[in-house]
Amino acid sequence: MAALLEIKNLNVTYRNKEKSVYAVRDVSLSLEEGDALGIVGESGSGKSTLAMGILRLLPEATADVTGKCLFKGETDLLSISQKEYADLRWKDISIVFQKAMNSLSPVHRIRTQIEDIYHVHEPKASKEEIRERSLELFRMVGLPERVYNLYPHEMSGGMLQRVAIAISLLHEPSLLIFDEATTALDVVTQGQILDEVVRLEKSMHMTRIMITHDMSVVSASCSKVAVMYAGCLLEFGPVGKVLKDPAHPYTQKLMESFPSLHGEIRELKSIPGSLPDLSILHEGCVFAERCSKACERCLKERPAMRDVETGHSAACFALKEVL
Ligand SMILES: Nc1ncnc2c1ncn2[C@@H]1O[C@H](COP(=O)(O)OP(=O)(O)O)[C@@H](O)[C@H]1O
Ligand SMILES: [Mg+2]
Repeated sequence: MAALLEIKNLNVTYRNKEKSVYAVRDVSLSLEEGDALGIVGESGSGKSTLAMGILRLLPEATADVTGKCLFKGETDLLSISQKEYADLRWKDISIVFQKAMNSLSPVHRIRTQIEDIYHVHEPKASKEEIRERSLELFRMVGLPERVYNLYPHEMSGGMLQRVAIAISLLHEPSLLIFDEATTALDVVTQGQILDEVVRLEKSMHMTRIMITHDMSVVSASCSKVAVMYAGCLLEFGPVGKVLKDPAHPYTQKLMESFPSLHGEIRELKSIPGSLPDLSILHEGCVFAERCSKACERCLKERPAMRDVETGHSAACFALKEVL
């Protein structure tokens, strides 16, 4: 069976007047239907850029996106026409950002905005049908019915975030991307929403990408994890393996910093140095300068991802050969 999503050699470069920023470099990974992938990494490691790159949300004038992104086998999200892409958005693929209120119009009631989005793909749906579907989702994300008739300015940020999450689920998309979408919610609400989403996934065969800096979210709600650093994918594999027995020295440091798995990734104070300058194309491993295991080769040559065991891979020359 074809993968639900196969990202192949994805590169995203931001081009400003003075310089280029190599924000995502040669990332390849593949997701099967029903997977829930956590993407983790320090702030600035390219997680949002990766998501926006595969969903064509970056302006062509300032961002070069190359590579392939195969959805359900044959459709390359990066090369289909605008029309074909518009047919997939919301219906098959949804994304929610941390500041979802920015994607809602301030001058229209929530009801009107939901009807508009719904009608793009289901032009014949009645208002009553849409209302029923919406209220079902509102219950799931813990919103009272009255929200349906409110204007965005009448609601708190947390409520608007929940509205955006409900909207993303309207058409039961095959692929759902949360980019820090639940981060600003309180822990209890976040937990409830994640439980509901996980339950929905099972019944709808939904696949989810969860961009987060919260390791507890990954361990509680994801089946796979991708570790990014300075635009590069350094490790990929099942959550149980990567979090418990990380193969890459960077992931090992990351896990040492969060032994309980309950915590946020901030700057890794335990590793000397900081994220490298992304306007320079480093020849070697992007983590080499901070890595206690780095040798000369790591400074000159970029390690490719290779298998540590089946389904678990890392980009490091120092990996134990267990295959
Ligand atoms: N529009 C832009 N122009 C130039 N650089 C950008 C732009 N957007 C993001 N970046 C840079 O790209 C890198 C990756 O950013 P981002 O994808 O937002 O990381 P993350 O989501 O992991 O925090 C950062 O160095 C950021 O400063
Ligand atoms: Mg981000």
